[in-house]
Amino acid sequence: MTPRQRIVAGNWKMNTSYVEGRNLAKEIADRMQPTDTKVILAPPFIHLNNVGNIIRDLAGLYLGAQNCHWAESGAYTGEISARMLASIEVQYVIIGHSERREYFHETDEQLAAKVNAALAYNIQPIFCCGEKLDMRQAGQHEAIVEAQLRQGLFHLSGQDFKKVIIAYEPVWAIGTGVNATPQQAQDMHAFIRHIIAGQYGQAIADTTTILYGGSCNPSNARDLFRQPDVDGGLIGGASLKADDFLAVVNSF
Ligand code: PGA
Repeated sequence: MTPRQRIVAGNWKMNTSYVEGRNLAKEIADRMQPTDTKVILAPPFIHLNNVGNIIRDLAGLYLGAQNCHWAESGAYTGEISARMLASIEVQYVIIGHSERREYFHETDEQLAAKVNAALAYNIQPIFCCGEKLDMRQAGQHEAIVEAQLRQGLFHLSGQDFKKVIIAYEPVWAIGTGVNATPQQAQDMHAFIRHIIAGQYGQAIADTTTILYGGSCNPSNARDLFRQPDVDGGLIGGASLKADDFLAVVNSF
């Protein structure tokens, strides 16, 4: 058995009012059973401070943001920096989600800079990669994921890379109800680990946590998490109901 950290992270995306978010975090905190899986809540920015207070002393629960800027501060109206996130004890940040790549035109270069900004403030990046449907149909899925990893992460030293969590999220599976099959997920996770081994060595590859994301829910999580190279999930829709999210957490 490899000593990899198991993680389930809830990406709330742009959902929940202040009260809804507070209630969701409280319900998860109240009902979570002891587990050796790390559970990360990544709510919208307006909730971070409050959710941080709700989960602060609870074992197994951690706070994540959904994005950060690459600069430390300055004239970037509407943006949030890693320094700001660190000041309210955010421990993880999702970087390079396909929705940010697609709708906000985030480039590999910007994502690499965001990764650096997060690490500079001791925030662990959850770095997303994944192909679109046409790329998979054209047999390009491994090539595109490899390029995303090389351009977004492989400038890091081994020491810094060890702090990164990878989330493989095939774009065609996100929010569609069509998850990757456990075998498709396993194949890509094994490929990602192989690429990491080539860059940083087998020891680092063997300890890198690689999450699956894309329509992961209580009915498919068990089969996905059972795959040897799948170390947990990045959960969108199913993270918005405590019942569903906790069922996914308990799927190992
Ligand atoms: P989904 O989203 O679980 O709703 O498919 C996953 C994600 O985008 O992180």
